[in-house]
Amino acid sequence: MHKNDLLLRAAAGQDVERVPVWLMRQAGRILPEYRAVREKAKGFIQLATTPELAAEVTIQPVDLLGVDAAIIFSDILVIPEAMGLPYVMEEKKGPHFPETVKTMADVDKLRVADPEEHLHYVASALRIVKSELNGRVPLIGFAGAPWTIFAYMIEGGGSKTFSKAKKMLYTNPELSHKLLQKITESTIAYLNMQVRSGADLVQIFDSWAGILSPAQYSTFSLPYIKQICEGVTSVPKTVFAKGAFFALEEMQNLPCQVIGLDWNMRIQESRKSLGPHKTLQGNLDPCVLYSDPATIKKETEAMLKEFGKRGTIANLGHGVYPDIDPEHVKVFINTVKEYRFDQ
Ligand code: CP3
Repeated sequence: MHKNDLLLRAAAGQDVERVPVWLMRQAGRILPEYRAVREKAKGFIQLATTPELAAEVTIQPVDLLGVDAAIIFSDILVIPEAMGLPYVMEEKKGPHFPETVKTMADVDKLRVADPEEHLHYVASALRIVKSELNGRVPLIGFAGAPWTIFAYMIEGGGSKTFSKAKKMLYTNPELSHKLLQKITESTIAYLNMQVRSGADLVQIFDSWAGILSPAQYSTFSLPYIKQICEGVTSVPKTVFAKGAFFALEEMQNLPCQVIGLDWNMRIQESRKSLGPHKTLQGNLDPCVLYSDPATIKKETEAMLKEFGKRGTIANLGHGVYPDIDPEHVKVFINTVKEYRFDQ
């Protein structure tokens, strides 16, 4: 039982006293307290794979910022690693895969991840967090959507266009579907392990949804997200497909409870496209948090007014940026907590 179960009630579309709030990428990045633990761990991957330290930075934003949920500290790229394609995290540059997937033989070499064997450290971290939170707030588990993971595995790192990954979809759909299916099966097993270890809700991040055409998105991303939603049955699911405004109508039929909106998406238009049964999460432009407290408050209130009270989870439209002042993040959080819909 949770003392604060606002997130879970909002996800279920139930009545809430106030709208719950958390931030994508709240664990890490903005808190000096995070950087201190990261120093101690000597790097991102060591931090993510040491359950006690991963648990510590997961709980920091709950204690220091007052968010209504914790999200487990890990990364979406642990799945390719568990499938046999390891990554390195380069300081200030982001993730990099020394080997990439080029041929069908490369796909055949990869395994469907066995999370109990290769990702046990995430399960351990979840169990520690669950016990230390002691029901204060719900715990969110997560994974990348198959298309976004595929994009990194083909491209080898970040990219503005992900043109190598898109080229693979156009030139070798057979290889593409085979790899997407392997990622999907790995992800279902991984998310179910997270649920067994204490995750109360899971979020699927399709960070690179917006670079696909609507037709490619319907063929190469949504069917796999659907399989994941069908394969993880015991907790509510959030699908955040950044940039996929064109797919919202189709997403109405996904068996998930919550859809994340980015800041390009119009709130009322999105509600109309998604129908009455989905809770919406989002969608303040993260850059609003660079402005002064009065502006942050005004913009946050305008956003809440448009969302309405029921079926809403307040968040940013993408992850919080590393150079944002934690005090400004608190203004956003406190504005949501204090907002009254009858005003
Ligand atoms: O949300 C949270 O606070 C939980 C932790 C979390 C991380 N990564 C930790 C992390 C989550 C949910 C992610 C998801 C993730 N990782 C996504 C999807 C969400 C999104 O932002 O679109 C993606 C695309 C990645 C891949 C990734 N990991 C990149 C591109 C980078 C480098 C740049 C960056 O975003 O900081 C990472 C590194 C990473 N993952 C860091 C953290 C805290 C920073 C690394 C560090 O501390 O050195």
